[in-house]
Amino acid sequence: MKKILITGGAGFIGSHVVRRFVTQYPEYQIYNLDALTYAGNLENLRDIEDASNYTFVKGDITDAEFIDGLFLENEFYGVIHLAAESHVDRSISDPMAFVVTNVLGTANLLNAAKKSWKETLPAHRFYHVSTDEVYGELHDPAEFFLETTKYDPRSPYSASKAASDHFVRAYHNTYGLPIVISNCSNNYGPNHFPEKLIPLMIHNIIHNKPLPVYGKGENIRDWLFVEDHARAIDVIFHKGNIGETYNIGGHNEWKNLDLVFLLCETMDRKLGRESGTSEKLITYVTDRAGHDLRYAIDATKLKTELGWEPSLQFAEGLERTVDWYLSNSEWLENVTSGSYQKYYEAMYESK
Ligand code: NAD
Ligand code: DAU
Repeated sequence: MKKILITGGAGFIGSHVVRRFVTQYPEYQIYNLDALTYAGNLENLRDIEDASNYTFVKGDITDAEFIDGLFLENEFYGVIHLAAESHVDRSISDPMAFVVTNVLGTANLLNAAKKSWKETLPAHRFYHVSTDEVYGELHDPAEFFLETTKYDPRSPYSASKAASDHFVRAYHNTYGLPIVISNCSNNYGPNHFPEKLIPLMIHNIIHNKPLPVYGKGENIRDWLFVEDHARAIDVIFHKGNIGETYNIGGHNEWKNLDLVFLLCETMDRKLGRESGTSEKLITYVTDRAGHDLRYAIDATKLKTELGWEPSLQFAEGLERTVDWYLSNSEWLENVTSGSYQKYYEAMYESK
């Protein structure tokens, strides 16, 4: 059985990737390595946790000795690296946490892979999951991010992801590590931590709390359903060319304010509230420092070379997302109270 190490598998996107690989590839043994930070939640994987081809490993990618040991103990065929600090606002208040996890953590994984795979390098694959934010921001509505767009990160988060991308390419160029990178646009869907725009708005609408729109709400994001991202990762891991970068996006641009209005309408309908009720909660707040105006991905390369394109229309994806949050109110309350963290910390300390 080929062993695949997925990092950050207890997080939002990682949990969808782990589920996809565990259920679609019985020939792989999937190791989910996650430190269970505030963003990691094993509840996300409750349905597959007993699968015979799934192993959870609690551990920190910033701990080089631990990572080296894990690679020596297990001959991993491949790595899919998602573990990261992922929230831009947190990177503004605590940039060093992003340097440590996203840059040092990635370098530790690269180093461990290089050392443990040295005799058989070409037989392996190191897949680094990155973001479109490394390209900076767009102003001209006719422009899109291409794989060749010059890096221009503008927040501590995107700078740390850009640095990690550079390290991944450097290990390919210098040591021949067989790598592949993808840069994806904004994801949405079930299990999204409610500090990010869409789940935060859903949470606050349910609780009749203010809906904080940064600045005038004119910034634009390109939204992709998380299961479509997981499918793209599957395709790129299996068919992507070594050394290459692939952009992943939804071709689905929304101005923040329009998206918040759409969510308000959808939630009013689902909750049986009078139309127009939730939009009264919209509150304009101080803009995010250095707020990137627009992200938009050109994913033509992924479509033409590997045949991937988004499968879900936004209207359907958003309905599914809202329905998931409404039927999983316990998940939402647990992650906002932090009680799940205490539960799992105790469980793993006692093992
Ligand atoms: P997330 O914050 O929901 O999850 C991150 C996971 O990494 C958590 O389970 C956390 O416990 C784990 N983790 C954090 N630090 C760790 C450490 N030191 N050691 C081990 N595990 C650690 O993030 P997400 O939104 O699912 O993003 C996953 C990846 O995809 C990130 O690399 C992110 O940059 C990238 N990405 C995210 C989006 C998006 O819209 N969310 C879009 C493009 C790319
Ligand atoms: O583009 C990919 C990136 O998308 C990922 O790499 C990041 O990990 C992910 O967090 C996301 O970054 P954003 O900063 O775009 O996502 P966020 O949900 O934080 O914000 C989306 C937009 O909504 C952004 O323009 C800021 C705005 N916003 C956000 C929050 C949390 C608000 O107006 N109010 C809010 O309360």
